Amino acid sequence: MSDQIKFLLPENRIPKHWYNIQADLPKPLPPVLHPGTMQPIGPDDLAPLFPMELIMQEVTTEREVEIPEPVREIYKLWRPAPLYRARRLEEALGTPAKIFYKYEGVSPAGSHKPNTAIPQAFYNQQAGIKRLSTETGAGQWGTSLSFAGGVFGIDVTVFQVRVSYDQKPYRRAVMETYGARCLPSPSTETEYGRSVLAQRPDHPGSLGIAISEAVEIAAKNADTNYALGSVLNHVLLHQTIIGIEAMEQLEMADVYPDVVVGCTGGGSNFAGIAFPFIGAGLRGGPKPRIVAVEPAACPSLTRGKYAYDFGDTAHLTPLTKMHTLGSTFTPPGFHAGGLRYHGMAPLVSHLKELGLMEAVAYHQTQCFEAGVLFARAEGIVPAPEANHAIKGAIEEALRCKREGKSEVILFNLCGHGHFDMAAYTNYFSGNLVDDSYDEAELAMALSGLPSVSEV
Ligand SMILES: Cc1ncc(COP(=O)(O)O)c(C=O)c1O
Repeated sequence: MSDQIKFLLPENRIPKHWYNIQADLPKPLPPVLHPGTMQPIGPDDLAPLFPMELIMQEVTTEREVEIPEPVREIYKLWRPAPLYRARRLEEALGTPAKIFYKYEGVSPAGSHKPNTAIPQAFYNQQAGIKRLSTETGAGQWGTSLSFAGGVFGIDVTVFQVRVSYDQKPYRRAVMETYGARCLPSPSTETEYGRSVLAQRPDHPGSLGIAISEAVEIAAKNADTNYALGSVLNHVLLHQTIIGIEAMEQLEMADVYPDVVVGCTGGGSNFAGIAFPFIGAGLRGGPKPRIVAVEPAACPSLTRGKYAYDFGDTAHLTPLTKMHTLGSTFTPPGFHAGGLRYHGMAPLVSHLKELGLMEAVAYHQTQCFEAGVLFARAEGIVPAPEANHAIKGAIEEALRCKREGKSEVILFNLCGHGHFDMAAYTNYFSGNLVDDSYDEAELAMALSGLPSVSEV
């Protein structure tokens, strides 16, 4: 078996539970605060936006949360996802490291996002909700929720960040194929969108603005709920199916990782691959190094402040403690649209503060270079977001080469790049530039953080 490439699990090995890292935290998460009262929020505060089942998953400290049978039935369409040994990449790098990657691009939408879109649509259907509104950056989440809405008979309205709406017309076509409605954000559909456009008609949009628009629609309509594709505890919980499967597959390969790498936008695919390993370490098992890779143009974990902030630009959300660049920060329009978010998941931020993980930032051209090397070795064209994880894994493999170590590196290949070929074309023609964020804008966004006296 020494030259095995694919580690596959049968359908009956789809996990029956998600893993909740809140059960194993050495220190609990700081509370989520109501921006009016500055007091911790309760379930009723979130009820206009989310079904109670998801609100309860947000706060539960049970270690295992059961995956409902109808969700596991739909998961069968693509799960368990394959784990690969990247032997040809190892050869290309001349590294003694063993590189493994979990491939989430086999889902119908082409990324890890349906892992949470399916349960979110399911719980909303159970609660009698007729419509879901959401935002999308890269288009991957919007596609996933459109697919999930179709499966469970729920209408879906997607606000797609303008710059990505223009870059990727075929993402919108897929969302419409699944039966959803997709609008460029900022849009004229919401009060907040109109106010942004009044100030700047050519605004490129941001995830923070698109979230505000989607939340506004949900808050104003009783039959409509909001769905978020990242950041929240329940989203990260659903994604842990990635790491749970990977653990079993690595056992088939008779190895345990020394390093686990994932890219971070809002933190969900990273949490998906990393949390089960961090949890095992917290319960006395081996402790691999855990590395988050973020874009240098939107570096919330490495340059942001750990502070209470709003999740959106219009300040409609509660306050959560997280690494943030400030909710008014608009990152440059680089190509990994899914990584253009001002904040980081509270759980990921908390783990970073507790010293249970590391974070690095790379520029997009370095990441595309890594992605192209990967595509030529392994055959899969990665999503621009995933290129960040590949860059992180390659750096670890090159370190192993320098140090003569044959460590086991596991990374999450969170999606394919078939709708991102314009970005690759730009890269090949030398038109992809490493835009830096504006330091003055960052300082201004950070100076506008809400002042919260810690409870
Ligand atoms: C392929 C892909 N990877 C990563 C991300 C970033 O999100 P997260 O950090 O929640 O995984 C996105 C978000 O849209 C995405 O589409």
